[in-house]
Amino acid sequence: MITIRRSLALPISTLACVALAAGCPNRDRNNAASDASSAHAVTAPTPATVTAGDVSSPERQAQVHDPAHPPIDCPLRKQGVDPAHLRPFEDTAKYIAFLERPDRAAWQKPDAVVAALGLTGKETIVDIGAGSGYFSFRLARAVPEGKVIALDVEPEMIRHIHHKAMTEGVRNLQVAFAKPDDPGVPAEADLVFMCDVLHHIQDRPAWLTKLVAQMHKGARLALVEFKEGKLPEGPPEAVKLSRAQLVTLATGAGLVLDSERPNLLPYQTFLVFRKAR
Ligand SMILES: C[S@@+](CC[C@H](N)C(=O)[O-])C[C@H]1O[C@@H](n2cnc3c(N)ncnc32)[C@H](O)[C@@H]1O
Repeated sequence: MITIRRSLALPISTLACVALAAGCPNRDRNNAASDASSAHAVTAPTPATVTAGDVSSPERQAQVHDPAHPPIDCPLRKQGVDPAHLRPFEDTAKYIAFLERPDRAAWQKPDAVVAALGLTGKETIVDIGAGSGYFSFRLARAVPEGKVIALDVEPEMIRHIHHKAMTEGVRNLQVAFAKPDDPGVPAEADLVFMCDVLHHIQDRPAWLTKLVAQMHKGARLALVEFKEGKLPEGPPEAVKLSRAQLVTLATGAGLVLDSERPNLLPYQTFLVFRKAR
């Protein structure tokens, strides 16, 4: 895992320690000694089992969200990542601020995107490449009787979303650390959401084939990617995926095009695919 290798080279700075305390508070204070020997031996469980808090019982919910009894379950440690080796929070904070910049909403239109998904409010949604959770938190609000699982290959992002969900009392948002070559979508997912992520994936055909195998029949995949051409926002032209490429990739992996909103967003393509069989 690139992140771990890179971050191991970093000294454990004061900033990192502050971020550590903010991200996974009690676990680190209370269980540091036992974790030191066990963290890397943990087998990565499925996303559904690595949650921001097991919210299965009222007692557990009270414990998770009561400031006097903060949670001890750090999702990163559960998946074998030692938060002590993460980057200083300053670096991550810059990226989070970029993703959350206030003027983004003018063209990203997050509420319109969520509305276009036609949710019933009961779905299980997996937000792959969730980043700062820009869409994860909005999706969680849109499915009060369902839940959102936010996945990312960057542990710092997972830590950020986990901490924000805990402090804001968002109980239907869970997190898990993703592997670059495995979507890691649990079979319960009704919708897989990806905004500005597919162009980051290395072997897209293989990755999408794995994703489709993990989706149940009828589940949907929503893709938001930057349109081609000179735009005020978005990645370099060379890494963009055209609408035609997106359709070829998704249908090649076994999905069918379910709906399309070409004019929903000024700079991005919005496509929804379905696993028909
Ligand atoms: C441009 S950001 C988009 C974040 C978020 N979806 C949004 O719209 O604000 C891309 C995110 O995808 C994540 N990512 C890249 N490759 C990934 C992979 N193979 N699996 C999961 N996440 C990935 C990155 O770490 C990053 O947080």
